[in-house]
Amino acid sequence: MACDICDDTGWKTIDVGGVARVTRCDCTQLSLRERRMRDARIPPRYQRCTLENLVTYENELFLKAVEKARRFAETYPAASKGLMLIGPPGIGKTHIAVAVLRRVVSDTGARGLYYDTRALLREIRSTYNPTLNSAEMDVLRPVMEAELLVLDDLGAERLTDWVEETMSLIVNTRYNERRLTIFTSNHEDIPDDTDMNSLLVRVGFRLHSRLREMCDFLEYDGPDYRDLPPNAGAEDLYKLWKGRPRRKLPQRTTGQARAQLRGPAREREPRADLKWPGGRAGS
Ligand SMILES: Nc1ncnc2c1ncn2[C@@H]1O[C@H](COP(=O)(O)OP(=O)(O)OP(=O)(O)O)[C@@H](O)[C@H]1O
Ligand SMILES: [Mg+2]
Ligand SMILES: [Zn+2]
Repeated sequence: MACDICDDTGWKTIDVGGVARVTRCDCTQLSLRERRMRDARIPPRYQRCTLENLVTYENELFLKAVEKARRFAETYPAASKGLMLIGPPGIGKTHIAVAVLRRVVSDTGARGLYYDTRALLREIRSTYNPTLNSAEMDVLRPVMEAELLVLDDLGAERLTDWVEETMSLIVNTRYNERRLTIFTSNHEDIPDDTDMNSLLVRVGFRLHSRLREMCDFLEYDGPDYRDLPPNAGAEDLYKLWKGRPRRKLPQRTTGQARAQLRGPAREREPRADLKWPGGRAGS
């Protein structure tokens, strides 16, 4: 993403007593890594998330997810697969995803990018124009080209043809270019295509099978950290988690999904209006 002030030329025009002067832009004072961090679009709420300030407690699957995330960050870009963090709200999925992103950007200066999936789709939609897709590409290009992308809350969006095609374009392009992506989702990965809330149904068959290939799936349960007082410790987390029955992911509604789906994994034509030079979109 270019500097807002100088468009990455490194020079800006200032007014000195009514006379225009050219001077070095402030952004040249920032190191590459600082600029990359600024450009990653990490929401203020998550700016301070690190793997170090994540409170861990006795929860096998959670610890496994944290360990996997840590290894991913430490060995970046060596990992061959991205991560898919799945579980109920408030268990630190976004925290972990952002912590990895921040670590990778600050350690390696990689071009990292965070997007909430719904916000991304909204942004693309707002620029969408069937005859002129350059504005749409302005949003899509950095998402497709980011060296490490976090796509938060996958499957929260209602699946329409447009959503499926747009998400497929993004994911396929990144898949073809071997770029790493970290996803989070509230939707369980169960092989039940009649469950409206399964990841499979929420994202569609084609995207789902790509995701399985692209990511290590890390599914875990835990207490909602948002229910705890500030500075809760490991013991509080463990007690809250054990004191409650296994948290349910969004309500199950079985039997209707198939009828509501637009057919099985039928092959679709690539989007003719969105051609991506590097990737084989829609393949
Ligand atoms: N184990 C933890 N230690 C410290 N902070 C935590 C932990 N788990 C969650 N948090 C904090 O709790 C808040 C909620 O966590 P987060 O947003 O990561 O949850 P989530 O699993 O992404 O939930 P959702 O599915 O609703 O998006 C964040 O501010 C996060 O930093
Ligand atoms: Mg989240
Ligand atoms: Zn600048």
